[in-house]
Amino acid sequence: MPMIVFIFKIVVVVAFGVDIVHGGITSIIGNPVKVIKDELDGLTFIDQRLSVVYPLIQSFKNTISSDPLNITGSWVGSDICSYRGFYCDNPPDNKTAITLASIDFNGFQLTAPSLDGFLDQLPDLALFHANSNFFSGSISPNIAKLPYLFDPTSTLHKRLGHLVCEQQ
Ligand SMILES: *[C@@H]1O[C@H](CO)[C@@H](O)[C@H](O)[C@H]1NC(C)=O
Ligand SMILES: *[C@@H]1O[C@H](CO)[C@@H](O)[C@H](O)[C@H]1NC(C)=O
Repeated sequence: MPMIVFIFKIVVVVAFGVDIVHGGITSIIGNPVKVIKDELDGLTFIDQRLSVVYPLIQSFKNTISSDPLNITGSWVGSDICSYRGFYCDNPPDNKTAITLASIDFNGFQLTAPSLDGFLDQLPDLALFHANSNFFSGSISPNIAKLPYLFDPTSTLHKRLGHLVCEQQ
């Protein structure tokens, strides 16, 4: 069982090209839920799907401990499709909807204790790139449940699905 978990983590890390910083993972999330609720008030989103991912992005932003290029300076307001690193598209299940379809953090040099609770919660995500960032921790097996996630360099989705099945 531990071996399978270990392999799972390696597969995720290699496939995503996530740079790992080893060390203690300390929680730096104060009380994100309340903050996000307040921030949501008064914002209007062009699609309901974007209002769903907004609190997830803001919560993740609050965990970022280093952002030398001030990337997160653009992660403000309801226009998620213009945030640096975030790209919107029509989801496969509804061609008139607008959703967060891909994330490209390549070269952003962000430091965060984990992608867990963020990446695995983005329902319509199809692509994720994060070379040259410093994300530690592991990624939840929930990522295998994202219906559209696709890694062009590997059969990541299928492999993760397989490993998750083995863990059950
Ligand atoms: C970061 O970017 C935001 C938005 O572009 C800007 O308002 C802010 O002044 C910037 N902060 C720093 C420290 O450069
Ligand atoms: C498709 O998305 C649009 C925009 O969000 C929404 O108004 C519409 O109800 C959706 N259609 C279906 C079948 O879910």
